[in-house]
Amino acid sequence: MPEDVVPAGTNQSPMSRQWRGLLREYADRLNITEATPIVTLGEGGTPLIAAPALSARTGANVFVKYEGMNPTGSFKDRGMTMAISKAVEHGAKAVICASTGNTSASAAAYAAHAGITSVVLIPAGKISMGKLSQAVAHNAEILQVEGNFDDCLEIARELAAYYPVHLVNSVNPDRIAGQKTAAFEVIEVLGDAPDFHFIPVGNAGNYTAYYRGYSEDLARGASTKLPRMFGFQAEGSAPLVRGEVVKNPETIASAIRIGNPASWNFAIEAHAGSNGYFGAISDANILEAQRILSAEVGIFVEPASAISVAGLLERSAAGEVPKGSKVVLTVTGHGLKDPQWALRRADGTDVSPRLVPIDITEIAGILGLQKVAE
Ligand code: F0G
Repeated sequence: MPEDVVPAGTNQSPMSRQWRGLLREYADRLNITEATPIVTLGEGGTPLIAAPALSARTGANVFVKYEGMNPTGSFKDRGMTMAISKAVEHGAKAVICASTGNTSASAAAYAAHAGITSVVLIPAGKISMGKLSQAVAHNAEILQVEGNFDDCLEIARELAAYYPVHLVNSVNPDRIAGQKTAAFEVIEVLGDAPDFHFIPVGNAGNYTAYYRGYSEDLARGASTKLPRMFGFQAEGSAPLVRGEVVKNPETIASAIRIGNPASWNFAIEAHAGSNGYFGAISDANILEAQRILSAEVGIFVEPASAISVAGLLERSAAGEVPKGSKVVLTVTGHGLKDPQWALRRADGTDVSPRLVPIDITEIAGILGLQKVAE
């Protein structure tokens, strides 16, 4: 349907139109030609949400880029619309990726939409049930490798080099190109780049992508500065912070359980070019930040995403975020991807809502409510 046609019987304003997905919205700024088939599920255009509770806690002016609002519930869809479109343009019949879960969910969905096969390699027993269910639902060929993510990526790269399968991990430059559009969106909303950008880091593909997006906007005069890029890894898998590969990475934030980031060199470049920072956060602080974001801001994210919030609170407490700074936090994946952590208290016990009888007086009593009308 042409975008200016209002369906009969709806109350849509004639001015409204549907977001067309980032390849169409940013066609002039991506390597898209007439020959590129547009494989889209409507990704991008995610909300930048003011977070007054975080502003109050830090004295900064804090906004959250909620990437869980993408079609498969994570930022991976930005890179995948581009990577799968280019794969189809190049005649690929099958794509492959290694994944801690979100990439596989996204690759499977976009491959399904394009009518091609997806193969995903995941670390055995180490991806969340929500993400695994997505890959299954979208009919991916799923193999659990008896190893970690880094082992999976090595195998995927080798297979793509010697067999007719197209690699859609972020070592594929089309992925990073699609993901850089998130920085364009931030600048469109704020009118300029923020002072700081906080972001989770696993392979460092997204850290690299935002830096590229911000750099491009600066170069074309859409903004006046680069934000300082502050990237965070979990304490047990923090190779960029430690400056060396971590052989057996561990963290409850399974999405970023990565010991040898694929975009290591690009990340170093982005870190240097933006006067950036890499920090490590404990699992306990990741879970506390997840709770703060859901309970005080109303945004539910998976643990890996909450590390942006934990990073802000830690840097702010260290006096490194001046009052009044404009701060953007990318939260990368939806809380429903990995809901088990929200159902567990800090002491390890499970949350189980209180069981009550069908009795209004008793329920009102439990809630501490006083009757105000007869
Ligand atoms: N947050 C989430 C929710 C992720 O799934 C990932 C990466 C990251 C952050 C880190 O992004 O790798 O660009 O630094 N997930 C990949 C996957 C590894 O397979 O889904 P990065």
